Amino acid sequence: MRLIVGNWKMNLNPGEASLLVKRLEDKIKPDPKTEIVICPPFIDLYPIAKDLDRGKLKLGSQNIHYLDEGPFTGEISPAMLKGLADYAIIGHSERRAMGEDDKLIAKKMAAAIRNDITPVLCVGETLAERQHGLAKKVIVDQLTADLTQLTATDVAKIVVAYEPVWSINHGDGNIVHAKPEDITFAYTTIRTLLEELYGEEGVSGLRLLYGGSADPGHCRAYLEMPYVDGLLVGGASLNYEDFAKIVKVAQGLK
Ligand code: 13P
Repeated sequence: MRLIVGNWKMNLNPGEASLLVKRLEDKIKPDPKTEIVICPPFIDLYPIAKDLDRGKLKLGSQNIHYLDEGPFTGEISPAMLKGLADYAIIGHSERRAMGEDDKLIAKKMAAAIRNDITPVLCVGETLAERQHGLAKKVIVDQLTADLTQLTATDVAKIVVAYEPVWSINHGDGNIVHAKPEDITFAYTTIRTLLEELYGEEGVSGLRLLYGGSADPGHCRAYLEMPYVDGLLVGGASLNYEDFAKIVKVAQGLK
């Protein structure tokens, strides 16, 4: 099933969030072949969940803690998200840049699976790593380390998003769109590695997303690529018209 995930990042208070969801619900038509997930900030999840039309939209979180409960001020556990969020973004480059390492990400992946939350694991190289010819090594190292606590059956349930850090819109006006060959290269690397590590079973249900400046103008080219199961959309998911356009393109594909 095709998957479009909107990552709202650190934007929108509960009032603004509810308004955006209403507008999205008005624009989006349900489609059994396309799953649409929005990932608002934690503070918005509960108010949105109360009235959500789950036939159209599902909810995800942008992060989780690796334990289910305990003395961790300011944290939200996957157990607390049960019934609210079906997905959780894990290992986003913006969190890795704040100090989250692969060891912690591996624990979070296990925590998500343990709590029946589908993890959307983000991997991808920075511009400097790409310029030094290290893209493949970074993807392989991140994936290998991040999945160490999972079995092949677990891996078959996860979503992997290739988000090259250099293509993410950081709001500085410098937008770089990845080329199809960049994405094909990353996907081949990801699939080959997962097959090597977890066999046929590991890749049997695997869904691969692309993320990085995906917008209505570029989404079709990405979505039509072989092995691309969907998109992880940042900035464009905050604009209901843009996000609905991306969803429409996805739903219109064979
Ligand atoms: P943009 O679509 O704003 O580049 O963000 C991508 C992203 O980081 C999604 O997780």
